[in-house]
Amino acid sequence: MQSGFDTPSGRFLLLDTKDPESHAGAYCPARQAWLDRELDQTNGPIFLFMHHPPFKIGIAAMDQIMLRDAETFYDVIAPHKARIRHLFFGHVHRAIFGNWRGISYSCMRGLNHQVALELSESVDPIAANFEPPAYGVAMLSDDQVTVHLHDFADRSERFLL
Ligand SMILES: [Fe+2]
Repeated sequence: MQSGFDTPSGRFLLLDTKDPESHAGAYCPARQAWLDRELDQTNGPIFLFMHHPPFKIGIAAMDQIMLRDAETFYDVIAPHKARIRHLFFGHVHRAIFGNWRGISYSCMRGLNHQVALELSESVDPIAANFEPPAYGVAMLSDDQVTVHLHDFADRSERFLL
């Protein structure tokens, strides 16, 4: 799973954040060393793709199963932060967009169920619902990253404005 490939927009790094023991994310020293090497070997634009967010998103039930090794993960990417164009993650099953320590990020909705926008301190259970699914369409250029959220299951009538 953990791999990288070059595109006309930069190098895509696909990070394996799976913890075989739990639903939380893990980024062990071996995987950190791989990422460190990958980042050292290039000096162009980087796009990161990972399942677990390496930061809290404000939904306590999901924050407790975020990437566990977030600070050591950050230490690996921090020297290269200026050329990390975007961080894509999943796991949360919600549309979330923002910026983490200078790195822009986005998360798409799930394709099966969604996690409810429950901003309380409740950590158990995770509140879910059947808000519609969506996928993202990322448009990349030298000076811009645009992420569209596509409600592909929407069947409402189209009309002209
Ligand atoms: Fe997950």
